[in-house]
Amino acid sequence: MTRIITMSLLALLMLPFALYSVDFGQGGLRDRLAEPHYLQTDSASANLALFSHMILGGIVTCLVPFQLIGRLRDRYPQAHRWSGRLIALSALVTAFGGLVFITLKGTIGGAVMDAGFALYGALLLLTAGMAWRMARQGDFERHRAWALRFFWLAIGSWLYRVQYGLWYLATDGLWSEPDFSGSFDLAMNFAFYLPYLIGVEIYLRMKKGNTDSVLRGTA
Ligand code: HEM
Repeated sequence: MTRIITMSLLALLMLPFALYSVDFGQGGLRDRLAEPHYLQTDSASANLALFSHMILGGIVTCLVPFQLIGRLRDRYPQAHRWSGRLIALSALVTAFGGLVFITLKGTIGGAVMDAGFALYGALLLLTAGMAWRMARQGDFERHRAWALRFFWLAIGSWLYRVQYGLWYLATDGLWSEPDFSGSFDLAMNFAFYLPYLIGVEIYLRMKKGNTDSVLRGTA
């Protein structure tokens, strides 16, 4: 029950960002943004890639918390499988769209932001693909490990905005510049996903350690 409440609350908290993202994406795709935006460029391919990444990224953000609810998974395994496929496919398009935009236009923050976001996209692709592959092979222990890594990456785009918001509230934008060249901005290019991934690896190793000790009878 705790998991259901936590994940539903998380989904609710992320909903405004997800809706903003979908709305931004559809406005951009239809060339109907309320105001001119620097992300709308003269390249039709870059626009298509970026705006569709926003729509599918919004869908991934909204849906991914529900995949982690064990009770839903056990009671409705078919729904878990189908939403898993939808989320993984949407994540592939999201990451691919972001990567195409970086290649064609580059980010507002320059080389370091390009690198941070490209690595983010590559890791999202890798974890979505591996979670899917392990599920197909019936290796559910590794499926769960890859799905957990994927989860933290999938909510990373939201965490990026949350971390910026909290930092601005606490420091009024210390070490942050409009062109994203401040020390905080540079660190943030990686800090919205790498620390969480490290946390997941520590958690997985501790869990494995506990299981091994139970099996050896030393716990
Ligand atoms: C996971 C779900 C994701 C969502 C919901 C999402 C949403 C958004 C939104 C709404 C923007 C517009 C900027 C803003 O208003 O803040 C944006 C920009 C951007 N996103 Fe994503 N995104 C996601 C994942 C990714 C991934 C995986 C990549 C990496 C390949 C990526 C790369 C970019 C890039 C390069 C920009 C433009 C940055 C700039 O120059 O301003 N996004 N994203």
